[in-house]
Amino acid sequence: MTGFDTRAIHAGSKGNNPSNSLNPPIFQTSTFVFNNIDHANKVMSFESDDYVYTRGNNPTLRLFENRMAELEHGAGAVAFASGMAAISSVIFSLLKPADTIIVHKTLYGSSYSVVTELLPKYNVNYKIADLTNIDELENAIDESVKVIYFETPSNPDLSIIDIKTVSEIAKSKGIKVVVDNTFASPYFQNPLLLGADVVVHSATKYICGHGDVVGGVAIAKDLDYIHHLKFGYMCEFGGVMSPFNAWLLLRGLKTLGLRMRQHEKNAIEVAEFLKNHSRIDSVMYPGLSDFKEHNIAKEQMNGFGAIISFEVKGGLDSAIKFVDSLKLAQLAVSLGDCETLVQLPAAITHRGYPREKLAEFGLTESMVRISVGLEDSKDIIEDLEQALKQ
Ligand SMILES: Cc1ncc(COP(=O)(O)O)c(C=O)c1O
Repeated sequence: MTGFDTRAIHAGSKGNNPSNSLNPPIFQTSTFVFNNIDHANKVMSFESDDYVYTRGNNPTLRLFENRMAELEHGAGAVAFASGMAAISSVIFSLLKPADTIIVHKTLYGSSYSVVTELLPKYNVNYKIADLTNIDELENAIDESVKVIYFETPSNPDLSIIDIKTVSEIAKSKGIKVVVDNTFASPYFQNPLLLGADVVVHSATKYICGHGDVVGGVAIAKDLDYIHHLKFGYMCEFGGVMSPFNAWLLLRGLKTLGLRMRQHEKNAIEVAEFLKNHSRIDSVMYPGLSDFKEHNIAKEQMNGFGAIISFEVKGGLDSAIKFVDSLKLAQLAVSLGDCETLVQLPAAITHRGYPREKLAEFGLTESMVRISVGLEDSKDIIEDLEQALKQ
């Protein structure tokens, strides 16, 4: 198999671009014309994989899906309008009333809301466990559990969950494992190779890399499941990606490896700087040798990514002063962009978590999350230093 950077640039495109164009066109069309009724019958019954309607399929989307499937070592992929469209569709596609889903205690805020607020309305139960503790996972499993869902590294406390061990336990009990691989990107981690059944991404983040697209994607090893997800859920819920966004994501993918290498290089320097700073209480970054799950990260990832969370001495007031004093780093949600972005998860992306439960979930009101960008590392560090002086 060719290397990651080669696949990120070429996978799926050979001989597929019309008029010998180097880059794929954007098929900006809602519908496709049938040659005659016989052709329509063949396409509608999946005897032919020609196109019908962009909510079901489109050549620009198909190229993006095929490329993502190759990068994640899956058999197929489904593109969605957003990461949340991918996550909610996958979760709903694998559960029915009276089933239970187990999720890790820290999750992106909207994923937490889907599990704790939407699923119970359809009589689907959930259990929250610390999945870094395998005993806790085993104790939570009963006959009703059908899905285990987690992010690794998790948002925002960077917990690392042992994908291989969780998948082995799940497989022996017929439970599906779904991993949100947004923080690592397919460059640093491939959960399907470690035994997971489905991988989801907010493509809005590193896959895009430029902060100009909202998109999502789900990848699986089982093509029948991909077909079921696409035509039973994506198509029916209707959260389809636009061809223009698929085209921008294909463009972003070409530099994914290059960007991830630089993101990580900068992040390691920033993490070391923070760790040694007298005004910082603690730093959460899987690449630090004293990080609690550093060894598992080393084993299952090819790199540690570029998201760091940390505590400034002095609690919430100091954290607010620090964030408000930054000049280069910008206060914003999202991550994985060229720009360094900073935020306070408890006040912004994880606002939906009940306040009284923050500590239980490993979050504090003063936790700062930084998505280390691609600016010169010395400039990022100088900015952090001047803000810490405030
Ligand atoms: C880990 C993770 N998963 C999913 C999402 C949701 O993605 P989107 O905003 O593309 O719907 C986010 C958004 O920040 C995220 O951080």
